[in-house]
Amino acid sequence: MKYYIGIDLGTSAVKLMLVDADGQIKRVVSRDYPVSYPHVNWSEQDPKDWWNAISDALFELLSGYDGQAVAGIGIAGQMHGLVVLDKNDRVIRPAILWNDGRADKETDYLNFTLGKEKLFEYTGNIAFAGFTAPKLMWMRKNEPESFAKISKIMLPKDYINYILTGVHCTDLSDASGFLMLDVKNKRWSAEMLDICGVNEEQMPRLYESFDVVGKIKGELAKKFGISKDAIVVAGAGDNAAAALGTGTVGEGRCNISVGTSGTIFVPCKSFFGDYRQAIHSFCHADGGYHLMGVVMSAAYCNKWLCNDILTTSDYDAEERSVKDRALGKNDVFFLPYIMGERSPINDTDATGTFVGLRGSSSRADVYQAVLEGVAFAFRDNLEIIRNFGIDIKSSCICGGGTRSKLWCKIIANVLNLELHLPLTEQGPGYGSAILAMVGAGESESVVELAEKLFKVNEVIRPDPELVSLYNERYERYRKIYPALKKLYKDIK
Ligand code: XUL
Repeated sequence: MKYYIGIDLGTSAVKLMLVDADGQIKRVVSRDYPVSYPHVNWSEQDPKDWWNAISDALFELLSGYDGQAVAGIGIAGQMHGLVVLDKNDRVIRPAILWNDGRADKETDYLNFTLGKEKLFEYTGNIAFAGFTAPKLMWMRKNEPESFAKISKIMLPKDYINYILTGVHCTDLSDASGFLMLDVKNKRWSAEMLDICGVNEEQMPRLYESFDVVGKIKGELAKKFGISKDAIVVAGAGDNAAAALGTGTVGEGRCNISVGTSGTIFVPCKSFFGDYRQAIHSFCHADGGYHLMGVVMSAAYCNKWLCNDILTTSDYDAEERSVKDRALGKNDVFFLPYIMGERSPINDTDATGTFVGLRGSSSRADVYQAVLEGVAFAFRDNLEIIRNFGIDIKSSCICGGGTRSKLWCKIIANVLNLELHLPLTEQGPGYGSAILAMVGAGESESVVELAEKLFKVNEVIRPDPELVSLYNERYERYRKIYPALKKLYKDIK
């Protein structure tokens, strides 16, 4: 039996998964690493920590298994992070991550001086501070000496592929988040490279996610006891890979991921976008495209409230305190902008905000408001996608946040969507294993294999009465941000 390794290079940890040729998960191991926040709104990581964590975890992943049977490796990663290497392949500065808001001036320049229409013409998207291009522009202005040393630019998972194979590459799903890719035509945008002050030689070579970029380097194959013939595929951005893990491929489907950030992911066969809306239009890992709305802080809001504010790790107890009869009737509202917000408001100045607190408000009301606030933020994105004329009636749902049945129920009713929970919490690691399997020839197509391997465990159906209560709540919720928008800037 052949084996495949799927790697999910996340923000707080890396997860490695060993999968057999039938798609059965044999083992999952993970390693944590720190994020540093050197200034308010900044977020960085040392790429060397990623590789140290992976190489350590690989031994545990393979112990008791025949490494010579490993036929392929795929990796999915946190998107948008800027990794820069000098001519000796040394990391020049810590990676600037997807949730780093420092490049707000560069973002405003791109959206309002260059203009969203031009930007959309070049890239199929508008600018967000979390995207890679504004970070490069920031570096050029604020760290000119380091910028001058850049020989290779890459995204977090590409750094790992570079170590594994020596090939400077990226895949189209992750490359879309650079804001330097002409997404529709799947090539680097000459205009954007020019604006960022870099050339194509510094950029990674583009591949489809399932393309083989090379074989694992001989010395690494030896070190880990992996077959020297094991292929490495280009991999994918974590959201595209997670979508593969839930069979969200082709067209007419949807995946909601409730991870540190939250995403709503709608695949489509041809390119589609609108520069007047802040929804991303990216390439998918199945060779097609997708639309994506990103809620900056989803499960992170729950973690923040429990761990940092209530100083508890007993999420179940908080959940039990929320009574079923209280759903759809909460007078406390929460805007989940504790890391600013990506789409649809694209506002790094927005902050987490409670509205409607009274002396009678309970801890349970506040907890419920946080879960509901994230669900309303998903709804803000879904409304725009529905306004594009895309009819979505059901969705898969995945990510750590789905361990909360209460949260899934709230999301199903706020969005009025039937939600399908996967049989096993597979996530981006499984999606990247699927890519490795396709790269190694186990299947002709990603679409076929992803559809075949996805199994639904549980269906959560919205309840019409609760949907109507939440519709009314949402109408109130959506009035809050426009009233505060200017204030967030003024009190900054
Ligand atoms: C997507 C995004 C996040 C990261 C999280 O655009 O920024 O979902 O990929 O890892």
